[in-house]
Amino acid sequence: MTASPSRAAEILARPTTINGLTVPNRIVMAPMTRMFSPGGIPGADVASYYSRRAAAGVGLIVTEGTYVGHDSAGNSGRVPRFHGEEQLAGWAKVAEDVHAAGGTIVPQLWHIGMVREEGQNPFPEAPAVGPSGLRIGATEATGTAMTQRDLDDVIGAFAEAAAAAERIGMDGVEIHGAHGYLVDQFLWAGTNRRTDAYGGDAVARTKFAAEIVAAVRETVSADFPVIFRYSQWKQEAYDARLAETPEELEAILTPLAAAGVDAFHASTRRYWLPEFDGADLNLAGWTKKLTGKPTITVGSVGLDGDFLNAFVGEGSPLKGLDDLLDRLERDEFDMVAVGRALLQDPEWAAKVLAGRLDELKPYDAAALQSLS
Ligand SMILES: Cc1cc2nc3c(=O)[nH]c(=O)nc-3n(C[C@H](O)[C@H](O)[C@H](O)COP(=O)(O)O)c2cc1C
Repeated sequence: MTASPSRAAEILARPTTINGLTVPNRIVMAPMTRMFSPGGIPGADVASYYSRRAAAGVGLIVTEGTYVGHDSAGNSGRVPRFHGEEQLAGWAKVAEDVHAAGGTIVPQLWHIGMVREEGQNPFPEAPAVGPSGLRIGATEATGTAMTQRDLDDVIGAFAEAAAAAERIGMDGVEIHGAHGYLVDQFLWAGTNRRTDAYGGDAVARTKFAAEIVAAVRETVSADFPVIFRYSQWKQEAYDARLAETPEELEAILTPLAAAGVDAFHASTRRYWLPEFDGADLNLAGWTKKLTGKPTITVGSVGLDGDFLNAFVGEGSPLKGLDDLLDRLERDEFDMVAVGRALLQDPEWAAKVLAGRLDELKPYDAAALQSLS
């Protein structure tokens, strides 16, 4: 079946909900680190970057990863922080502008763990910390294995950031549990060698993430959305997997859902790939099937001209995006996050929602260089 522009527009334009939040359509801006916030303060250019995409019809913006208030959380002075008076004032203005443009927005709360190297900004004295002090792919510890006190501090930092998000007018939060950063370092056996209650089987490795979710849930209002992003793949280990079977995935997702996750954001690099043998479902599809929660899919939507061809081309050999619309229509997942295509073209959502697919621009990595 070949999707027509009007079918694409119609399916993507349907509103949906995450806990107390109504999202006006199915298009989500994927979180993308841009490093345009000197001092960790998102300025007027960051506010206009996001509000421009909201004005063009993105239903939900997930901001770039923004550091929680723990000195070891980051490795750049140009990544925005989600703590501190000036930083939060910057974010309040971002939220205000996005709302004025008709959009909704959640900050992605981030701790990079062992991806940090010693001496890096924004706090050069801070150590690199992780479940076992191991970098991805390493066998010898080069950082600090977190103590119970460290764990409590970081859990507290996520909860404080979530409370701040609600206070300054954000529409929810996304916890960054993906791509080999701190929370994922706990989830993945390759970096979690702990022998205490936070290490061992999949359920034990999920304990830290679940405690973060529970602490966030307890701090914010009952209807304030808490989204959890996770992935199989890691930076520097694209083939890594948390779960080889649906049963293993269920062991991870069930405690997270029980702790209070309202929606999952299942990060894959190509949305059309089946996650496990024997079924067509991608990672988001499996996540929804296993948890019953609203789910966001992501990965190469709109890249390489596939989007254009698959929507407008009669007899197109590309079935990926037809497949995406079919799956959305079947409620296998609920929302579609778009990353690079939205960097390339701030008007991407407006064009898709109006069926102006012939106007979409192919992605060019030069789009990474500026914040337009
Ligand atoms: C420049 C850039 C920065 C990114 N930064 C983040 C980030 O801060 N947090 C995150 O979870 N994912 C991040 N990602 C991954 C994206 O959210 C998304 O999952 C990925 O780009 C695949 O979607 P796409 O093919 O539509 O671009 C980043 C991707 C890019 C291209």
